[in-house]
Amino acid sequence: MDKTTSIHGMWSSRLTFILAATGSAVGLGNIWRFPYMTSDNGGGAFVLVYLGCIAMVGLPILMAEVLIGRHGRMSPINTLRGLVRDSGVGKAWVGIGWIGIIAGILILSFYSVVAGWTLHYAWLYLKQLFGGAGITDPAATFTALLASPLELTFWHGLFMLLTVVVVAMGVEKGLERAVRFLMPALFLLLLVLVGYGMSTGYMGQSLTFLFRPDWSEIDGNVFLRAMGQAFFSLSLGMCTMMTYGAYLPREGISIPRVGIAVALTDTTVALLAGMAIFPIVLSFGLEPAGGGPGLIFTSLPLAFEAMSVGVVYGLLFFGLLAVAAWTSSISLLEPATAFMVEKFGIRRRKLAALAMAGLCWLLGLLSVLSLNVWSEVRIFDRSIMDFIELVANDLMLPLGGLLIALFTGWALNLTILREQLSEMPDGLFTAWRWLLRIVAPLLVLAVLASAVL
Ligand code: PFF
Repeated sequence: MDKTTSIHGMWSSRLTFILAATGSAVGLGNIWRFPYMTSDNGGGAFVLVYLGCIAMVGLPILMAEVLIGRHGRMSPINTLRGLVRDSGVGKAWVGIGWIGIIAGILILSFYSVVAGWTLHYAWLYLKQLFGGAGITDPAATFTALLASPLELTFWHGLFMLLTVVVVAMGVEKGLERAVRFLMPALFLLLLVLVGYGMSTGYMGQSLTFLFRPDWSEIDGNVFLRAMGQAFFSLSLGMCTMMTYGAYLPREGISIPRVGIAVALTDTTVALLAGMAIFPIVLSFGLEPAGGGPGLIFTSLPLAFEAMSVGVVYGLLFFGLLAVAAWTSSISLLEPATAFMVEKFGIRRRKLAALAMAGLCWLLGLLSVLSLNVWSEVRIFDRSIMDFIELVANDLMLPLGGLLIALFTGWALNLTILREQLSEMPDGLFTAWRWLLRIVAPLLVLAVLASAVL
């Protein structure tokens, strides 16, 4: 195998990789999930644990994933097979790739349903722009959407279609433009909303909610959710970054640097989303705690109604959020598709993407139905959708991350590591290696244990 290129294509530059990896990281996780998880898990303490997980666990594992990918240049399963062979370690490590592919399929199944909600909202604002009814009672609008399996299925299907088109074409085409222009636009819009938040006079209170920890709120479960959120937000633990790393050229590209750039951008967007949403929540007299998955859909439209060109903002916001979700869903579908391409032949890319997306769409129907027809069904006290989310995000991603850390720290050949991280000073390299060997695994294990016990 020629290790300088991948059969799946290559990113044209360092910037393209950074855009694609940021596009993967920044998505519903930052703007939909982070605020409501913060709202549901006690505010500041959750946020601080989350930030700690990003720095101590997320960033080192992000680097490990990209490095493994860039060395192997194949889909995760075949990359791991190659590494296991070359390093003479146990075949069981290949299981990391399987966990990743299964987690990706499960996550994409409900991710696409939620992305469908954002498409629906963009559509509502578009209609309003042309004289349609405004969203005057956001809570009722949201409830009505969830109550309709047909609408949910339609938007979920449309979103999956958008995703499969890009993945079938090959990731670089199409993706690049989406990320290069639209992601900065989303960022700007968030800044506008933060500005609006400041004008409400509730920014101080929001910052207190976001950053002042109330440790009495915290238990094993909150730790688990914060860690799951860190993995989810950075797209870690399911070999997505490994897959993207496989298409990363070697020349002059430092993995630590790109890793830091991606982690910083991702975290900034999440914090900005929090700073945009909580002032609105407070200024309209809603409770910051316990917002649930509907939080942005029930609070932001209130602000858009009150703003002078709110309809335009509403359209832009939900439209751009759908784009952010799109660049993430592409990365959720890619690992499984790349594996299928390797298994069944290189020219089968379209078919492979379609088959995987079809599977995710079908599984997504479980989530759709759990919001209405099957809302009474409970698995371990959770709805079907919540259960899938818990298993995939909060358990499989940290478990995948734990194994990636151990594999990189203990099983991989030191020469491979040093060769991939040649620009890194010795001291930092050693620190990174011990983070992977000891610190990250212990933290993940402690969190998993504290949630179970
Ligand atoms: N990081 C994405 C988000 O925050 O929306 C979601 C995601 C994408 C998770 C890719 C995992 C993944 F592999």
